[in-house]
Amino acid sequence: MTVNFEVNGIARSLTVDTRTTLLDALREHLQLTGTKKGCDHGQCGACTVIADGRRINACLSLAVMHEGRKVTTIEGLGTPDLLHPVQAAFIRHDGYQCGYCTPGQICSAIAVLQEIRAGIPSHATEDLMARPQATNMEMRERMSGNICRCGAYSNIAQAMAEVAGVKA
Ligand code: FES
Ligand code: FES
Repeated sequence: MTVNFEVNGIARSLTVDTRTTLLDALREHLQLTGTKKGCDHGQCGACTVIADGRRINACLSLAVMHEGRKVTTIEGLGTPDLLHPVQAAFIRHDGYQCGYCTPGQICSAIAVLQEIRAGIPSHATEDLMARPQATNMEMRERMSGNICRCGAYSNIAQAMAEVAGVKA
């Protein structure tokens, strides 16, 4: 089946087996290997990308489901000379060690901060009538689907707090 979608601002047309995941389409067909395969079962978050503004696990999503959508991967966020603010904050706060989980962490972090700004509540939001704030608890709850074997969680939280303009 053919799927037409936009990846990192570029129109793409792929003919893939209908069982091909978005993750494999990105890595194997488009050679965008920044998005990582950790578990391939929706449990680690290493494959997180942003589809139409929402973070998703690319391993749990079929490529053909993304007809007409805009997908952003880590390659589409910034360049070495012009980093996305979240990428720059991860570097400043040492938000990684081996780096394997990092593309997924950064894609999640960007979408999480957008969710909070948009007023979308989480399980950690105490008052559902008030706008959620970028508290440490809110960010940790929302990032809980992104596992880091190296345990860079505190530094990731600090990087996100800096971008959100709050105290970690
Ligand atoms: S590779 Fe997709 S969640 Fe682990
Ligand atoms: S930095 Fe190594 S798994 Fe997260």
